[in-house]
Amino acid sequence: MCTWSNSQTAFDFSDTRIFKEGMKMSTKTEHKIALAFEDGITKFIPCAEDQTVADAAYQSKINIPFDCRDGACGTCKAFCESGDFDEGEFVDDAMTQDELDNGFCLPCQSKPRSDMVLQIRTTSVLAKTGPETFSAEVTKVGALSDTVFELELEVEDRERLNFLPGQYVNITVPGSTETRSYSFATGPEVEKIGFLIKNTPDGLMTNWLKDVAKVGDKLEFEGPMGSFFLREPLQPVLLLAGGTGLAPVMSIMESLANDELLDVPVRLIYGANTSEDLVRLEEIAAYKDRIEDFDFFTVLSQEEGHERCGFVTDHMDPTEHLADGEADSYLCGPPPMVEAVRKYFDSHDTPPLNFYYEKFNANQQPGAAEAQAETGEQVAEKAERVAEKVGV
Ligand SMILES: Cc1cc2nc3c(=O)[nH]c(=O)nc-3n(C[C@H](O)[C@H](O)[C@H](O)COP(=O)(O)OP(=O)(O)OC[C@H]3O[C@@H](n4cnc5c(N)ncnc54)[C@H](O)[C@@H]3O)c2cc1C
Ligand code: FES
Repeated sequence: MCTWSNSQTAFDFSDTRIFKEGMKMSTKTEHKIALAFEDGITKFIPCAEDQTVADAAYQSKINIPFDCRDGACGTCKAFCESGDFDEGEFVDDAMTQDELDNGFCLPCQSKPRSDMVLQIRTTSVLAKTGPETFSAEVTKVGALSDTVFELELEVEDRERLNFLPGQYVNITVPGSTETRSYSFATGPEVEKIGFLIKNTPDGLMTNWLKDVAKVGDKLEFEGPMGSFFLREPLQPVLLLAGGTGLAPVMSIMESLANDELLDVPVRLIYGANTSEDLVRLEEIAAYKDRIEDFDFFTVLSQEEGHERCGFVTDHMDPTEHLADGEADSYLCGPPPMVEAVRKYFDSHDTPPLNFYYEKFNANQQPGAAEAQAETGEQVAEKAERVAEKVGV
């Protein structure tokens, strides 16, 4: 049996922790498998313990790549981000022991022993699936400050909506056919879903939120999407949020707070232009009571007199935040911030062990698709890195 996490360290989490809560298991022997495709779409399928992942995908009418279905060709090889599985029988040509040890599995042979997250090496289109559509009703809408709106939705058929903390959806702006991408600001297990949305002058979504939206309005969204999601927290976690990039970080923190097995420090650096952009500070502070080793501070780039001015990188401590190179870092914010942090990590002696990021690209059709491609690339890059490491 193989237990696996993205950290490439074998461990046992037969209790499936955060993922279980978001995915609502139905029986003791059935697990939820998140199939994350290269185009950023994620599909969740049920899979019984005596069933292979490939059979379960087929039953759910999802065509993940396969050929021999016998552990002989390696066509179905996938990267297991987290989860615990029985690897089954296979030959070296299909998958080497090194690959197995480094996180790969063969879905045609693997049977789950816990919920799993798998990176599938194809797009959702080729797998003949796609994002699901949901209808929802606005239960709360308003300005949290001059620069940030909150939106809360009650989703019809909520049990159908599974997502990983950090992922996003495409909301159709009511009164139009255009969509905008927004990251969940609430944990997967929270009944009503929430979003934090930046006030973009003259923006389509912004104008709807500002001038039209009211409690009781109906809207539709598609999802969930994105490769930016919380992995099993086995190393110290550094969360970096820029502006409304706080949204997925809040979703991640909620999941960490619900993780009874969490035993690593969690740090958050929350950057914004001015104090007007800082929201949810009380909620963030409350995580100090729910996460045993949690601390955070804010950094302002365009306001003097704040305790910490400048950029988030100006205030990063190699030991406290990067755990001297052992941390998993999650960053979400506007593209310039993501680039700045990336450069900083590249030039740093002790960059994080794993670095996941999401850029909030402004909408320029196909803006969202671009972001998805980017996260897809990340996955491919990561798979390549692992492949290089194990000589694939
Ligand atoms: C994966 C992902 C997740 C995201 N998550 C979030 C989130 O959680 N919170 C969040 O706040 N944002 C998020 N975003 C950004 C979000 O999707 C929108 O881009 C943002 O909210 C602006 O939408 P809008 O409709 O208000 O503005 P838009 O209508 O898109 O306008 C944006 C700007 O472009 C200008 N503009 C529009 N059309 C034109 C034109 N034809 N010519 C010139 N200028 C034009 C507008 O005046 C405005 O200044 C995310 C983006 C991605 C890709
Ligand atoms: S399909 Fe051939 S190894 Fe899985």
